[in-house]
Amino acid sequence: MRGYFDVDLATVRGREGKKWTKYGDDVLAAWVADMDFAPAPPILAAMQGVLDRYDLGYSFFADDERAIATFARWMKRQHDWEVDQSKVRMFGDVLQGLVAFIDLYSEPGDGIVLQTPIYPPFIEAVEGSGRVIIDNPLGAAADGYPLDIDGLRAAITPTTKIIMMANPHNPTGRVFTTDELRAIGEVAVEHDLLVISDEIHADLVWEGTHTVFATLDPAFAERTVTFTSATKSFNIAGLRLAVGVMGSQAMMDRFEQVHRFMWGGVNNIGAAATMAAWTECDDWLDELHRHLRTNRDHVVERVNAVDGLSTVAPQATFLSWIDCSELIASGIDDRPFKHFLGRGVALNDGHTFGPHGVNHVRLNFATSTSILSQVLDRL
Ligand SMILES: Cc1ncc(COP(=O)(O)O)c(C=O)c1O
Repeated sequence: MRGYFDVDLATVRGREGKKWTKYGDDVLAAWVADMDFAPAPPILAAMQGVLDRYDLGYSFFADDERAIATFARWMKRQHDWEVDQSKVRMFGDVLQGLVAFIDLYSEPGDGIVLQTPIYPPFIEAVEGSGRVIIDNPLGAAADGYPLDIDGLRAAITPTTKIIMMANPHNPTGRVFTTDELRAIGEVAVEHDLLVISDEIHADLVWEGTHTVFATLDPAFAERTVTFTSATKSFNIAGLRLAVGVMGSQAMMDRFEQVHRFMWGGVNNIGAAATMAAWTECDDWLDELHRHLRTNRDHVVERVNAVDGLSTVAPQATFLSWIDCSELIASGIDDRPFKHFLGRGVALNDGHTFGPHGVNHVRLNFATSTSILSQVLDRL
């Protein structure tokens, strides 16, 4: 098992994915949220099985009962969520689902609440579809990035239609408490808003407990669409498969009005891999947890020891959100992202996470102990 998390530089540099090809060979990649590890053996076997059977013809997985039942069993086991299987649909990816629901539940010019700093595609999804960001920034790092409930209430405008949240939160790694989630739900009910709950990071939690937002209250559930995927926890993002769970029949009916060709199909290899992930990979996931938790502690210790940098231990995810304000104040020439690129480490640029992300970088620590140490040395 250990071997999977011991990946070396020659192996990752041999890959053709974006993470290790975007920057030069002298740069260590700690940016986009792919892990460097080989997927679990049952996933590889399931993919090979598709090839061995030459099973590359049409499949109709979007509402495939077997796939949906597998998902429902996983959710029950992992998060104690009794999913209504009649309200589940498969998508090519989570972002496709988010945009479909932005389109269905709002018009250009309407407002969508985001808890910033936020995963950049949320910003692109809102602005790119002509909607307006209603900014509800998280509180201070020193307080652990709490949700600002008063700020949320004050931010809502008459044209606000949707609250879109990532829980666990990317980039801060916050796992929202049930009190925070309840407050979001109450605001949504009060203002008749749709909640789009992106829970893609829910299987990688180090502190606190992930609560599926839709389980908190039937009144919240009926106005919520939940998205998730096996792609983050099992490192198969290139295989493209996500799941959307709609909270009511009315929502399902509305969704069914979108022409199904608009959200494409799910590919056979991605479906086989995802089902293997959700049925046969618990041991691998447990090992992964141990490895990532150790990496996380290492990152927190080392980053906080660097003059000018500070970070709060993420409660979830393999991402560390690093505050570089003091480094900037000390007079570096470039913004921090470029500064670190110049030192041979590719991180994510805080600017892309919205105005509250400036002065920050995001570091992906899902790699081997050895690569991570080299990344931290270069910081
Ligand atoms: C919060 C969040 N949502 C969605 C995604 C992307 O999901 P997908 O590849 O299924 O669109 C990511 C990827 O890092 C993410 O962090």
